Amino acid sequence: MVQVPPLKGAVEERAIDRALSLALADDREGGLRLAVALLEDEPLSAFNTFVTAWLLGALGRKQHLELGLRASVERAVFDGNLPLAIAAHALLRDAELASDAELESMASAFAKGSARISDKRGAPPQMASSAKEPEALDSKLQGDELLERAAAALTKAKAAQDEASLSAAGGQVTPQVLFSALDPASFKATVSVFDVRFVPSNEPLVNEGSVGNEAFVVARGELDVSKRAAAPGGVPLALARLGNGALFGEMALLSSAPRTATVTACRPSVVLVGSKAALDRVAAKAPEVGRVFAEFCRRRMLDNLVRTNFILKSASPSERPALIERFTVKQFNQGDKIISQGSPPDGLHIVALGEVNVVHNDGKDPTLVARLGPGEVVGEVALILRRPAITDVVAHHPTVTLFLQRDRFLGLARAHPKVFVELYELAVHRDQETATAASTEAAESEDFVLV
Ligand code: CMP
Repeated sequence: MVQVPPLKGAVEERAIDRALSLALADDREGGLRLAVALLEDEPLSAFNTFVTAWLLGALGRKQHLELGLRASVERAVFDGNLPLAIAAHALLRDAELASDAELESMASAFAKGSARISDKRGAPPQMASSAKEPEALDSKLQGDELLERAAAALTKAKAAQDEASLSAAGGQVTPQVLFSALDPASFKATVSVFDVRFVPSNEPLVNEGSVGNEAFVVARGELDVSKRAAAPGGVPLALARLGNGALFGEMALLSSAPRTATVTACRPSVVLVGSKAALDRVAAKAPEVGRVFAEFCRRRMLDNLVRTNFILKSASPSERPALIERFTVKQFNQGDKIISQGSPPDGLHIVALGEVNVVHNDGKDPTLVARLGPGEVVGEVALILRRPAITDVVAHHPTVTLFLQRDRFLGLARAHPKVFVELYELAVHRDQETATAASTEAAESEDFVLV
């Protein structure tokens, strides 16, 4: 298998990552021995508190699960780390221990109108770099003895956190993607939609091409976003590395198109998961939720096209906004005809989301000439060679395209002559390919089953 090249180099594994990895590999006591050592060393850490509480809960100590998770919500709110507070609240909800108090505390710091929100954009605290870290507790410490030590560390950490928050009020927090755009009532409804998922390192959470019914926010961790290689045997295209607070999975959710990329944890990660059905319900009452998702989707769609489509790639960053301005966004349902064979050209489409079938009809059985996905162009043959369309183009999935009207094409060709040459070559190549496919089809007269 081809490995995705790391974007910012390999991640540096921290001791808390090892604790999570042990726990996710079912060695909960091993994970707890390390998490407790870290919490004893750094009792003000919301994440050490969270992991220790979660493991105590998994090992049957419900009372300490509650104590630790409530403390994590408070400490994470104090630190300005909303995604982690939401994760702790969701685990409390799973254990039927959640109360409105945590939602209130999060809303008062992060919802629209909070005096704590600063006007600087940003992300919650990211992974700290390595200071010297403590060793795990002795492996002889097991069973009740280990649980007592963990419970004591948690109680002590909670006391230290209470004391710290008494002596200093929580400072300014950076506005959080999605949540800080919402008034307190919509904020609480949206927070309550998210569940928690723990993702081991190297595990893909989202697979390119699959159907998506969930959107995600990183509570703590790092995940790489990549696209399959354009040609077989090629190297996958690394798109981004997502850290704490990042939103992802919104594209398939909004468009019902297949997932546009694969998202893989590059360190053990804690991720918030919201189902489409639940997010649709909150968006019906809080249109801001839909707007934030749509804006993310639009930005990433363009970001990806700029890397995969030769027309957008050809423009310099300063020329790009004007170039994109020439296009309009079109949406198609599965089965819609985007181009009809025999009809005059009406413009050029760049597939942005989804997939299209290019189908030739010779009066008998239709032939599937190609299936094209994001980044590919359709409509150029008729447009450039100035003749009726030689094939149908039909949406194989719900599809979004960037569309350039025929009478705007000349302007593009003048401003970007190199693009015109590439489109011309593509048009001639595809025209020949389709003619060959059509004549082979006539000679062999084989049935082709369209999927
Ligand atoms: P979706 O297509 O549902 O699943 C894969 C996700 O990867 C996608 O939604 C986006 O959330 C995310 N993604 C795609 N392209 C990028 C990009 N260029 N930068 C960051 N995230 C991206």
